[in-house]
Amino acid sequence: MAEPSHEAKIQLLKKKLAEAERVVVLTGAGISAESGVPTFRGQDGLWRQYRATELATPEAFADDPRLVWEFYNWRREVLAPVHPNPGHLALAAMEKRFPQFTLITQNIDGLHQTAGSGKVVELHGNIWWVRCNGCGELAEDRRVPLPELPTCGSCGALLRPHVVWFGEMLDPMILDQAHRALETSQVMMVIGTSGVVQPAASMGATAKRRGAFVAEINLEPTPYTGIYDLSILGKSGEVLPLL
Ligand code: OAD
Repeated sequence: MAEPSHEAKIQLLKKKLAEAERVVVLTGAGISAESGVPTFRGQDGLWRQYRATELATPEAFADDPRLVWEFYNWRREVLAPVHPNPGHLALAAMEKRFPQFTLITQNIDGLHQTAGSGKVVELHGNIWWVRCNGCGELAEDRRVPLPELPTCGSCGALLRPHVVWFGEMLDPMILDQAHRALETSQVMMVIGTSGVVQPAASMGATAKRRGAFVAEINLEPTPYTGIYDLSILGKSGEVLPLL
């Protein structure tokens, strides 16, 4: 059977969304690409320019916190002037259409919230928040750059970015929120993620097992494309406003 046209796929997803009450979305770096934020694994990907294992790990921070903060201050500089794109804005508008709508993101850029999304489950944290290495206190801090070695206002210990590093566990409460949405959703959209970092990578498969209609929106196929119901190839900033 011939593959349905791009337009037919969009119409099918629109129909599934129109019939649904419970929707879950998973986003990755691809949704922010059209805002000018580099993805991790693309040609100019962040993890190609930097040796991530030397910077985004608890060991690196213990060895050389100044260097790790230099990296995060650079990432803050890149992100500070960036605006949400039509993909972020479409998802923020979509949230209002459904009784239950959960937006799970792997991104730490905070662009979904800037676009107006209210219910965002941030699996990997948020670069605009800092966490005390001593007392664990969390605070939003949008200074760019932060002092070379920022310290906690309460206990004086070193602050770290409130992001999940390689080798660290995800917050179980955040994961639980994500899983509750995945278990009950009727439609899931997996947008702009390469599907290679767990546990996010298998979330589409979980929703599919629970009976959801799962659609992927990506520039290219991913390791999971074959198990989803629909693969829409294209830019999220162009596809999402059509939905
Ligand atoms: P990747 O850089 O691995 O993948 C980005 C995906 O977005 C690729 O599949 C691209 O094809 C797709 N893409 C690029 N531009 C797009 C566009 N305009 N519209 C739609 N799709 C587009 O980023 P993630 O999958 O998000 O984790 O990476 C997952 C995690 O790996 C990140 O959260 C980060 C990283 O290590 C941590 O830092 C903990």
